[in-house]
Amino acid sequence: MRVLVTGGAGYIGSVTSAELLRRGHDVRVLDDLSTGHREAVAAEAAFFEGRVQDREVVDAALEGGVDAVIHFASLSLVGDSVRQPRHYFHENLGSALSLLSAMDRARVRRLVFSSSAAVYGQPEVEVIDEDLPLAPVNPYGHTKAMIETILQEEARARGLSAVALRYFNACGADGRLGEDHSPETHLIPRLCQHLLGRLEDFEVFGSDYPTADGSAVRDYVHVKDLAAAHAAALEVLGDPGLVALNLGTGRGASVLEVLRAAAEVSGTELRAPAGPRRPGDPPRLVASRARAEAHLGWVPRHSELVTILRDAFRWHREYPEGYGAAS
Ligand code: UFG
Repeated sequence: MRVLVTGGAGYIGSVTSAELLRRGHDVRVLDDLSTGHREAVAAEAAFFEGRVQDREVVDAALEGGVDAVIHFASLSLVGDSVRQPRHYFHENLGSALSLLSAMDRARVRRLVFSSSAAVYGQPEVEVIDEDLPLAPVNPYGHTKAMIETILQEEARARGLSAVALRYFNACGADGRLGEDHSPETHLIPRLCQHLLGRLEDFEVFGSDYPTADGSAVRDYVHVKDLAAAHAAALEVLGDPGLVALNLGTGRGASVLEVLRAAAEVSGTELRAPAGPRRPGDPPRLVASRARAEAHLGWVPRHSELVTILRDAFRWHREYPEGYGAAS
């Protein structure tokens, strides 16, 4: 298949593009490099630098026949979205709408969309399934839920065939591709930087959650498993409609369990102080992955905590400056 990957220079987008190339697909990447990295784009992929909202560049990227689009390009920092909501709505909704118009012009009907567990807000359930009502609690989550609604309506009206993949906690690395955000807010990369002496202050946000050890529980899923799910999603597109699927493992891990796995793989003793809760953090977010398995035959194969930590730690040790050193 010929696939256009927007945001293909970003973390999950670059690993997915590499996986598609390995599977023999013809990959085009469109990215404005605002948060992505040129070095993360494989030499075998055609690269278009620009914004999804820019009609000229997106038309060029779709020219000559594209079978499907995977839309990663998005602003994705929860805290940031709370500080500047209008910017998040403008960018995330704007790029999705521009892309859909461009797909219409180019007669492309297949789309895989990067959604998020953030669409569920703070559900008080052990395991989240896709039928739970969407109840985002921040602008970032709202943009993802609103785009899912747009896709549903477009499917009804114009025959779009779409899969929305709701990621839980993406982590890990794949060869030379890893997680390099600036600023870095995520637990596992911050932990790796701390263990390598590159981040002094590291603390556990919250010790009084109603969980077994008092720290928050998340569902950590290896980026290689996420990439495999995107490749599988391409195969099921065809009939008009939107299917929303969780991408998580079905198992929760607390922050303290992640710390223990990190200490194990790095061989370093780790003592992190417990600080206050980070505002807006739910106590527990764990996916049901039954629907993703039923629709895609998707089973995570790399998402054991120790595997995730080993891959993430190796990447941060090999690339202490992230992509910065290479550029
Ligand atoms: N945490 C710490 N210390 C840190 C960083 C994080 O204790 O230095 C904790 C957080 O409080 C949270 C857990 O580690 O309990 C995981 O935090 P992350 O920032 O790595 O990830 P989140 O669960 O907050 O965010 C993820 C995705 C978002 C998505 C959100 C859905 O990264 O894109 O889940 O709620 F929106």
